[in-house]
Formats: sequence, structure tokens, C-alpha cells
Amino acid sequence: MVKVTIDGVEVSVEPGTTILNAARQIGGDVVPPAMCYYSKLPGTGGKCRTCLVEVAAGSAADPRPMPKLVASCSTPVQDGMVVNNKSSQRVHDNRGGVVEFLLANHPLDCPICDQAGECHLQDLGYEHGSAKTRYEEDRRIFEPIDIGNKIKLHMNRCILCYRCVYVANQLTDKRVHGVLHRGEHAEISTYIEQAVDNDFSGNMIDVCPVGALTDRTFRFKSRVWFLKPMEAERSCSKCCGKAVVWMFGNEIYRVTARKDQFGEVEEIEQKTAWLCNDCRFEKKEVTDWNVLGPRVINRQSVISQGKYATTIDKPVKRIS
Ligand code: SF4
Ligand code: FES
Repeated sequence: MVKVTIDGVEVSVEPGTTILNAARQIGGDVVPPAMCYYSKLPGTGGKCRTCLVEVAAGSAADPRPMPKLVASCSTPVQDGMVVNNKSSQRVHDNRGGVVEFLLANHPLDCPICDQAGECHLQDLGYEHGSAKTRYEEDRRIFEPIDIGNKIKLHMNRCILCYRCVYVANQLTDKRVHGVLHRGEHAEISTYIEQAVDNDFSGNMIDVCPVGALTDRTFRFKSRVWFLKPMEAERSCSKCCGKAVVWMFGNEIYRVTARKDQFGEVEEIEQKTAWLCNDCRFEKKEVTDWNVLGPRVINRQSVISQGKYATTIDKPVKRIS
């Protein structure tokens, strides 16, 4: 085991563990945000830079600080390493810069976005975003398109984290979408609209950290904070059949996988509880499910924190 100290908290982890996963073992505020890394999808990470941290001491053998901030999702810990995340002003400032870049093209359409309340970029924007943009170029504009009969792609909101591409690569039989072009022109696309049609393609919606991929069977039906998340299960021959059904009264408005405090699909009986499209899109009757009881949503979010209610600035001047 190797020892690492993150924001003053020491933890012992297996050699090879990344700083991010060591921080997750501590939990709470110490954990850096992660927009592209997804522990259940091998190979993810290193794309978004939101997880940058400061390494104040490289290791016990060589305690020199690392000159630049490092991506915690892809940097393994060393014995005696000292890392600053929440406690570092430098990290805070740089994360603000990363968020500014992520928001360069991302529209601030949270009031009409289905992901609002569950969006990691919304949370980061709240914590680090500036009230004004310095971006003077034209924003990239795309028309929303249907990729498959159940998934809507709103490319304006995509931050090119590649998670959905890894889902397609690792969970579905064949991958029919990916990132086309590069740099400013890069976009998620199928080339042939309506092409994503696979038993497990709906999991792309669950891994998308923003509202770029949304569930067409749920779009614009309700804000998530008006719904009651309930743990439910059913017998399914394709997937584990363990889900969260989001209810309004006795109606099921949407079905998602069960997610942990990092927004990732949970492991149940040592397997990642991915959902098949039948359970997610076709089983919307209460009789389809054995509803077990309320689901506690413990991921930090603007909604779960009630932050909107507590931080509204006083009006600059009263309008009469
Ligand atoms: S569509 Fe969503 S999951 Fe896919 S690359 Fe864009 S932000 Fe990531
Ligand atoms: S989570 Fe580490 S670079 Fe995106």
C-alpha cells in the first residue's frame, strides 16, 4: 500500500491508484470533479481537465512539487505524495479557467435542458463560472438531431468528453457513432441519423455529463426535482433489471440506472448495473416494476444543496 495525503487527509491505497480514485476513497469535498473519467468505462479520462490538482510533494523519495497542475484521473499516486485540491487557490483559479473553456460553446440553456439539476457542468458553472463571458467568437450552433428513435443529440451542449463513445465501444455490439473532425470542428455524430439502435445504447444518456444526449421518451416532461426517485427492480433477461424509476404520483416518467455520489452507474453484486433499452424506455407502467422504496440521491448538485435558494444576490436596484 502507498500513502498519499490529499487536502490534509491521509489515505492508504493500492499502488497504481490514481489521485482521483484515492480522493474518492476519502470522499466529500476532497474529491475533484470529473467530467470525462468514468471508472466503469476503462480508458476514459484525460480529456476535460476539470480534475486538475496541485501536487505539492511528488513522493517521499523525491518531495519536490510538480511544476504544473496534473490531471488527477490519470496520474497515479506515489508513496508520500501530497496533493492539494479544494485547499489550493491555484487549483480553484485554474478550474475556473477550464470551466470558462467548457462554457465557450455550451449554451446556458439550463432552464429548458432536461439535464438541469443533474448536470455536472451546471454544478461547476455554479461554483466557478463567471457571470459574463469573454468569448467574442461565434458559438458553434447545431440543430438537435435524433440518433436512434430514443436518443436526442443536442451537439451545442456536448463537451466532447468521449464517454458515450466508450459506452458504444464497450457495451454495444457495434459502434455507429463517434467524434468526427477535430479541434473547433469536432462533433459527435453518426453521419446517418437514427442509426444508434442497440440494446444498451441508452446508457449513453446516463454517462453524458451534460444535456447533450437526452431521453426522447422523457424530454420536456418534467423537471427532475419535481419527480420522486424510487428504487425498483424487475426480472429482465438482458440486464440486471435494477433501476431508479422517477415518479410523479403513480406515473413513471423516466427510468435511469442507479447512480452513486460521483454520478456513475452503481455496481450491484460486483457488476456495473447498466440498463437495457427495454427496461429504460419501454417499461413505464408501475405494474412493470417492483417498486422498493425511495432512492436517496447523494450526489452533490445545485438542486440537492438547495443552492439556488440560498445564494440569490440582492437586486442591484428595485424596479418599480
Ligand atoms: S454527447 Fe455527452 S457523453 Fe458524448 S462526448 Fe458529448 S458530452 Fe460526452
Ligand atoms: S476527469 Fe480528468 S481530465 Fe476529465
